[in-house]
Amino acid sequence: MKKIVISTGGGDAPGLNAVIYAVVMAAEAKGWEVYGSRGGYKGLTDLDELVRLLPESVAEITSQGGTILGSTNKGNPFAMSVQNLAGETEICDISDRIMANFNRLGFMCHIAVGGDGSLDIARRFYAEKGMPVIGVPKTIDNDLCATQLTFGFDTAVSTATEALDKLHSTAKSHDRVMVVEVMGREAGWIALNSGISGGADVILIPEIPFDLDNVCEKIADNDLHGKHYAIVVVAEGVKAKDSAVICRDSVSEAGRQEVMLGGVGEWVAGQIRERSGKDVRSLVLGHLQRGGSPTTFDRLLALRFGAAAVRLAEAGRFGHMVALVNGEMQDVTLEEATKERKVVTLDDDKVYTAREIGICLGDK
Ligand code: F6P
Repeated sequence: MKKIVISTGGGDAPGLNAVIYAVVMAAEAKGWEVYGSRGGYKGLTDLDELVRLLPESVAEITSQGGTILGSTNKGNPFAMSVQNLAGETEICDISDRIMANFNRLGFMCHIAVGGDGSLDIARRFYAEKGMPVIGVPKTIDNDLCATQLTFGFDTAVSTATEALDKLHSTAKSHDRVMVVEVMGREAGWIALNSGISGGADVILIPEIPFDLDNVCEKIADNDLHGKHYAIVVVAEGVKAKDSAVICRDSVSEAGRQEVMLGGVGEWVAGQIRERSGKDVRSLVLGHLQRGGSPTTFDRLLALRFGAAAVRLAEAGRFGHMVALVNGEMQDVTLEEATKERKVVTLDDDKVYTAREIGICLGDK
């Protein structure tokens, strides 16, 4: 009897449960046993966190947001922060312990569902420890280079677009500028896609450093043409020309300083208020973008990824990740998949579209 284990790592994204469903159903059909490791790799360190997944345990989870296995974006097993008896924080490598448990339990494959951080950990387990791993790409940010799309992105864009649609009426009623901060880290995909679809006047993305004069000029131009309100979409990782990223905080994680993005929307709103004299309000969509039921598109993509991951496991294509390439299910090495981030380029059709329909991107 073949046994596999699945884990979900990093920030959650709508569609994770659909992947779990597809993996369980496709593997069961082959007569394999499926186990879920809760909280990323916790199930491989503490066996109480390892659960047997049966078709009945995953019935009807496809449409649910979040992940029934739980997730974490802390705790890299190769550099885990732990408190010693003196209460001091130490960095420990627990990867060998995980590997020993994995082998002892007789797993023939680990299906690791995650974003760039979790996939890089999966890559290291494969390359350095010989774990037979299959990766499944997930992130609302859509910033993984080897796959055309990740599940969770379409849902996040739909949520942001719906929010923008709702803001138009209140902005218009009060002649206000509404500044909306959306997620995406160093990638502007959520901002660009939702901003274009949701009728934004200005979209600021990390890939295009902005000049506030251009933003205020666009707002003044709106006024000149009788439109006394404006919608400004700001990606959390943007920066003004000649300035650094504005972030909420930076936390120390396993000896590395991790930037916690957030807060730039409020800063942009303050600058616009000061310079334009307009009434300005700002809001942060935040984790709303990660919540809720996956759209049909994300569900289907996640189900396809899950089934394809089991196919790859059967074929023994370990060290690979399932990917959407030209609309088809393909696979790429984890090495390739984690090489770089996919960010918006200036020659992207959506950048042209935004400019051509009169949206200011902050650079002109
Ligand atoms: O990568 C997904 C993402 O939602 C980013 O867009 C965001 O910056 C980050 O995760 C927030 O993560 P958390 O608040 O869970 O640490």
